[in-house]
Amino acid sequence: MRILLLGKYGQLGWELQRTLAPLGEVIGLDYPEIDLTQTQSIRNLFKEHRPQLIVNATAYTAVDRAESEPEIALAVNGQAPGILAEEAQQIKAALIHYSTDYVFDGSKGSAYVETDATNPLGVYGSSKLAGEQAITQIGGAYLILRTSWVYSLRRPSFVTKVLEWSRQQPVLRMVTDQVANPTSARMLSEVTAQLLARGLPITFDWLKERRGIYHLAGSGIATRMEWAQAILRNDPHPQEQVVQSVEPALTADFPTPAQRPLFSALNCDLFRQIFGLGLPDWRTALQLSMSAD
Ligand SMILES: NC(=O)c1ccc[n+]([C@@H]2O[C@H](COP(=O)([O-])OP(=O)(O)OC[C@H]3O[C@@H](n4cnc5c(N)ncnc54)[C@H](OP(=O)(O)O)[C@@H]3O)[C@@H](O)[C@H]2O)c1
Repeated sequence: MRILLLGKYGQLGWELQRTLAPLGEVIGLDYPEIDLTQTQSIRNLFKEHRPQLIVNATAYTAVDRAESEPEIALAVNGQAPGILAEEAQQIKAALIHYSTDYVFDGSKGSAYVETDATNPLGVYGSSKLAGEQAITQIGGAYLILRTSWVYSLRRPSFVTKVLEWSRQQPVLRMVTDQVANPTSARMLSEVTAQLLARGLPITFDWLKERRGIYHLAGSGIATRMEWAQAILRNDPHPQEQVVQSVEPALTADFPTPAQRPLFSALNCDLFRQIFGLGLPDWRTALQLSMSAD
């Protein structure tokens, strides 16, 4: 199978380049080699590579910056996915795309299921929702995997930031009113590859029968505070920490340009039911990601 992987240097894309390799030939690309704001260059990719599967791990993920760059966020997150879906459909290629818990407003109070009403609070969430809608309108063989709080140790993420702060500050203030599912980029890419392996060798028809939006994130929920505490516990070099305590804070204590949903945990039961797979408990995944054992 010929796989076009877009966003190979991102947190998720870097892992996907490795986990997808056993499935076939992976053509990995990323900015600036490709620019998803350029419609024609997206279309050219299909002529040049004739992929059977497209995995789109690109995204404009700067949630706060998106508020002042809405056109770019919308082009990358909202319009490009529709062009990918259109081109994929024309050559009978399957499409895997990722979306976000930020399509929700966080007011539900319990974990969101796929059929819950969306209502993004900021430009990033709105642009990702536009991408979902563009793909679903076109149809074809696609999966949209909504995930949340993605981390890797390779690129700046909440995990690397907490480790950095723990070496600089005696007191860390962490919010207790933001709740979601910490998701290991490694585990997410692993589950993506395993689900695709189940559809071989007839990926297009197999995925078309199962197409839709699914929630796929680390099992269990956490507050930012709980997540930060677990990161510190799993620090492979605790002797480097200068932090003495982690104090509770509220989102309102740290004003940001973008408003974020407070409770955006995802219920991933549907994915497990349809594909027989899921991500492990977020604490287990974090420990495995940070441990040298
Ligand atoms: N990170 C999270 O907490 C989170 C939470 C929920 C959902 N998600 C979703 O999960 C998926 C993977 O996220 P991630 O954390 O792996 O993202 P990431 O690390 O920010 O990687 C995204 C990749 O897309 C590239 N990109 C940005 N603009 C581009 C453009 N115009 N043309 C081509 N490539 C471009 C980036 O390149 P540059 O680095 O050069 O910009 C980067 O390599 C995305 O769909 C995201 O929306 C992420």
